[in-house]
Amino acid sequence: KSSLEDFLDQSIRTIPDYPKPGVQFRDITTLLGNARAFRRAIDELVHPYAGLKVDKVAGIEARGFILGGAMAHQLSSGFVPIRKKGKLPHETVRVAYSLEYGVDEMEMHRDAVKPGERVILVDDLIATGGTAEGAVKLLTQMGADIVAACFVIDLPELGGRKKLEALGVQVNTLIAFDGH
Ligand code: PRP
Ligand code: MG
Repeated sequence: KSSLEDFLDQSIRTIPDYPKPGVQFRDITTLLGNARAFRRAIDELVHPYAGLKVDKVAGIEARGFILGGAMAHQLSSGFVPIRKKGKLPHETVRVAYSLEYGVDEMEMHRDAVKPGERVILVDDLIATGGTAEGAVKLLTQMGADIVAACFVIDLPELGGRKKLEALGVQVNTLIAFDGH
């Protein structure tokens, strides 16, 4: 493990058997509440894009909003919220996405991204990749040029990174955890 991974590992709280038996919940509220850890995580998330033109950071509700807002500020780019259905007031594009059990829908404002704009997608964690895949579909439908998708946490055994890479999306993550 790198010193970055050690540092993040110590900053992220693991809750056993939450929300159900056998699942280890990776809780980033402890990282967000630690000034050094929060800054370090944002610095590392934006690092690959330093010097690149980034028009927008798109964050996935809800934890992607916290990270994406800070990233957009640091990159001097705009921020676009991708939300659970029914929350956005203007005209939207909507997509169904798969969750571990069942499906849900997410939305983005139609005018949030213009064709050709360079966008970075962010969420706290990628597991099966169903959520991120839905967000990629919305951005692609609006003609965005997706520079990369980034996440603090990767759960590689659940295959999300490979799913996004198969769609041609570059994926950057800060720390990987084994198991569920
Ligand atoms: C969690 C996490 C990611 C998503 C990853 O969100 O914050 O958004 O799951 O899972 P996936 O890669 O298998 O799609 P959750 O659905 O729990 O909703 P929340 O962020 O609103 O709490
Ligand atoms: Mg989420």
